[in-house]
Amino acid sequence: MHKIHAAITAVDAYVPDYILTNHELEGMVDTNDEWITTRTGIKERRILKGEGLGTSYMAVHAVNGLLKKRGIDASEIDLIVFCTSTPDYIFPASANVLADKIGAVNAWGFDLQAACSGFVFGLTTGAQFIESGKHKKVLVVGGDKMSSIINYKDRTTCIIFGDGCGAVLLEPNYEGYGVVDSILKSDGSGAPFLHLKAGGSVKPASHESVDAAEHAVHQEGKAVFKFAVTNMADVSAEIMEKNNLTPEDIAWLVPHQANKRIIDATANRMGVGSDKVMVNIERYGNTTNGTIPLCLWEWESKLKKGDNIILAAFGGGFTWGSVFLKWAY
Ligand code: UT7
Repeated sequence: MHKIHAAITAVDAYVPDYILTNHELEGMVDTNDEWITTRTGIKERRILKGEGLGTSYMAVHAVNGLLKKRGIDASEIDLIVFCTSTPDYIFPASANVLADKIGAVNAWGFDLQAACSGFVFGLTTGAQFIESGKHKKVLVVGGDKMSSIINYKDRTTCIIFGDGCGAVLLEPNYEGYGVVDSILKSDGSGAPFLHLKAGGSVKPASHESVDAAEHAVHQEGKAVFKFAVTNMADVSAEIMEKNNLTPEDIAWLVPHQANKRIIDATANRMGVGSDKVMVNIERYGNTTNGTIPLCLWEWESKLKKGDNIILAAFGGGFTWGSVFLKWAY
């Protein structure tokens, strides 16, 4: 009996229509296109407008597209792993909300919270249920409505983040395609540098917390940058070494899109040329859990069966990790 690998067999995504450009941000905070472009690589990001629309709204679009592409019904889904830092509610889980909206009547599910590393954590988690033989169809969704937790008066964060959501389907593969390996790490001492101060059980919402904008992302950018640039590069090099991969063996690097300079440093460390690196940060900014599936979605037509792909992420917490997979179609 061959080992079961968890292969991605379909991918789709959704980004909202509204485009928030650097130019528009110049009218909102003291910033300019040149600063944003050179420091981050971002030109524009998408914003989900509309009363009562949360992250699951985007996930419904992404997953319905995926199901159509794969030609399967939502009732065939066994499990939904919804990776998000901006769930519709603290509870119930957005996985449940999504299951109800798409008609995944036979699925169970849960939300996974690992900030910007959520998708690599979620993919690894979902893969376990395929590899063990427990499930045949697992949806891994990664998405965030970051605009719901951004203070648009804080120029250090509002220029970075955007809204978007992607999803992949994992199914068993018996030919060696799919997720081969992953390295996941976390360091809770990084929490003060990137977090939401209020809204959790430590500091529930109050008039004071709202007035102090403590329900919005707090980031000490320089400190996070230092950790991100080292750890994302290290964990990507580590997974190459562990699997005896040379730069020539790698078809694509799919990095979390937080900062073009962090992406470049990771690619340099791996010895991978820019022609093999998926980058769309200029159009979507940092969509947190959405960045990696949005890349897979945009590059899907260029991917070939057997391509060696490295996913890499770094996020709040701190959390970071890499996944090595062989593309299955
Ligand atoms: O995805 C999860 C993980 N997150 C990350 O990986 C983010 C990591 N951090 C970063 O990407 C970068 O640190 C930022 C893009 C957030 C900031 O870039 P930086 O090169 O580290 O800039 P800085 O924070 O050191 O600020 C440099 C200067 C400061 O002014 P002074 O003190 O030198 O006078 C800031 O006040 O730039 C100023 N500044 C701005 N100027 C224009 C900060 N934000 C802006 C802005 N527009 N939006």
